[in-house]
Amino acid sequence: MEFTPLLLMLSVLMIPSEAAHTAVSLIVSPSRSQFFKYESVSLSCEDQGSSAGGRVRRNTTKRWLEACPADWGVGTAGSPCSIQDTFPHDTGVYWCESVSGEHSHAVDITVHDGAVILDSPVLPVNQGQAVTLRCLHKDKEATKPFSNFPAAFYKDGSLVRTEAAGEMTIPAVSTSDAGLYRCSNSELEGSPESWLAVRAPPPSLTSPPAPLLSLPRLLCSILVSLPYLVVTALLLERCCRSKGVCSAAKCDEEELY
Ligand SMILES: *[C@@H]1O[C@H](CO)[C@@H](O)[C@H](O)[C@H]1NC(C)=O
Repeated sequence: MEFTPLLLMLSVLMIPSEAAHTAVSLIVSPSRSQFFKYESVSLSCEDQGSSAGGRVRRNTTKRWLEACPADWGVGTAGSPCSIQDTFPHDTGVYWCESVSGEHSHAVDITVHDGAVILDSPVLPVNQGQAVTLRCLHKDKEATKPFSNFPAAFYKDGSLVRTEAAGEMTIPAVSTSDAGLYRCSNSELEGSPESWLAVRAPPPSLTSPPAPLLSLPRLLCSILVSLPYLVVTALLLERCCRSKGVCSAAKCDEEELY
């Protein structure tokens, strides 16, 4: 019977692991990164499925670390925060801060005082997912923005393609599709640029799972089990000395009884 590996395992189990990572995330509704001036937008924090997930913060060009609803927006801490009429000065970086101080992924939101915006995902999309980018137009009289007009789509400054119906679909995005996108129509002006973020699949799906023991834990385990190893070695030595030459396996057996 080999009991040192068992001890090693036990000592590994007894060392407390780090607290599970809690994921707080920002939800933007409507879910896009560009808005026309005077549109309304709602932002909320979700902490691993529960909505009691902290407060929404933002950095704009003029102000830093503003919190909702103290500095901007309407709402109460822990519930959705909304902006009834967006203005270009609402353009900035938005994120959630959980009760324990954790930050969510930060997203860029652009409010454009113009006739054309790009409807692109505000949150990172998973690799392999289909993504549709839409060119939206809203004139002064229209209450709702519409697409369905010829639009050219650009990525990182160069033309990708022109679509008669104003939307461009990437059937399965890859990390190389990440970049700054904008759209334009020859008769209307162009939209601002927005970053499309593509998330690579979690490592567990592509590569074998990470080793169970991290180096610090392994060292710790060895330290913890060192006294047992030494005692075992001493017992083995004594056993072998008294019996002359014997196999280690046999000594182990006798040691147990
Ligand atoms: C917001 O601005 C502060 C102050 O400059 C900075 O420390 C912080 O990193 C910014 N946060 C984001 C998410 O950009």
